[in-house]
Amino acid sequence: MNKKTVRDIDVTGKRVLVRVDFNVPIKDGKVADDTRVVAALPTIEYLVEHGAKAILMSHLGRPKGKVIPEMSLRPAADRLSGLLGREVKFLPDCIGPEVEAAVAGMKPGDVVLLENTRFHPGEEKNDPEFARKLASLGEIFVDDAFGSAHRAHASTEGVAHYLPAVAGFLMEKELDILGRLLEAPNHPFVSILGGAKISDKIGVIRNLLTRVDALLIGGGMANTFLRAEGYEVGESLVEEDSVPLAKELLEEATEVIRLPVDVVVADGFAPDAKSKVVGVDKVPQGWRILDIGPETVAHFADRLSGAKMVFWNGPMGVFEFPRFAEGTFAIARVLADLKNAVTIIGGGDSVAAVKESGLADRMTHISTGGGASLELLEGKTLPGVAALEDK
Ligand code: 3PG
Repeated sequence: MNKKTVRDIDVTGKRVLVRVDFNVPIKDGKVADDTRVVAALPTIEYLVEHGAKAILMSHLGRPKGKVIPEMSLRPAADRLSGLLGREVKFLPDCIGPEVEAAVAGMKPGDVVLLENTRFHPGEEKNDPEFARKLASLGEIFVDDAFGSAHRAHASTEGVAHYLPAVAGFLMEKELDILGRLLEAPNHPFVSILGGAKISDKIGVIRNLLTRVDALLIGGGMANTFLRAEGYEVGESLVEEDSVPLAKELLEEATEVIRLPVDVVVADGFAPDAKSKVVGVDKVPQGWRILDIGPETVAHFADRLSGAKMVFWNGPMGVFEFPRFAEGTFAIARVLADLKNAVTIIGGGDSVAAVKESGLADRMTHISTGGGASLELLEGKTLPGVAALEDK
């Protein structure tokens, strides 16, 4: 990564405004999954140890410029405080006199968390005046919110116009690991893509196709490819508009793209729907594909054996329904058992699936960015990264 990091500046005694991505699920007033909070700890701990005054800010949910109490970041402050083992003062807004006074009273090593930046309409509009007010709280800006780096918002991009801006450790780690997939992948490099739609991932597919040795496709998006190959897929989700595109990709990369050979079909979209395994040429009328089948798992495992680098985005089936989770969990097991491979999981649903499989700690890296990791792998410049100072 060619961006300056928090290591390249002197933070001691300074007010450091840190953008974290604490956009975490909240249940009953508590953080239900603290992965993103844990991931931000190295930067926060570094700041505390170096005597900085850490002023953390984040968005949570999509309140669209209004105060929505259920989207308060207070539970994240409680969780962070527990993880750090020190007080994290929660401030009831992210700008204004009360916040300014609290910040003015901070001592070296103190940590505060500001309220949801998206409670102000200026955040998503990247309003320069709002960004200037946020920036006035700090002397240095550290961006550690990789998960939000694809958003050109006031707290991710705007503030960088007013303060020296550097990357935090999570941002650095994500950019290094995901950047390697594009710049210097180890071969054989195999990518597994799933999830519902190819239209969401076309940029990533195109960019990966020039780099991978094999691209294994499962999940809902495989149906569109199967249609492009002429199979009848019953009631399965298919993006009719994308069938010509799928055909084009299959022609361009016959050797590289691998599709399911068998699937688990169901007679309805429900956890208790009747189900059976069939070949892709035998999907009964009125049934729908909800998972990849065991032969496909074996076939994909074969392509994965010996891989030195694997990138996986998107589940292989409707893993939220236990009956249709086996394909996704089986792929997680294959990845967990690979020897000497760098395994990288990107994207919200696949991360949830890997966690549910209980194998998360057997992967090399689980990205904290959904949209951000996909945009990076599409080859796009992320505004939150572009705004940081070059080394
Ligand atoms: C995410 O969860 O992907 C990020 O926090 C960005 O959230 P957003 O999609 O609401 O901008």
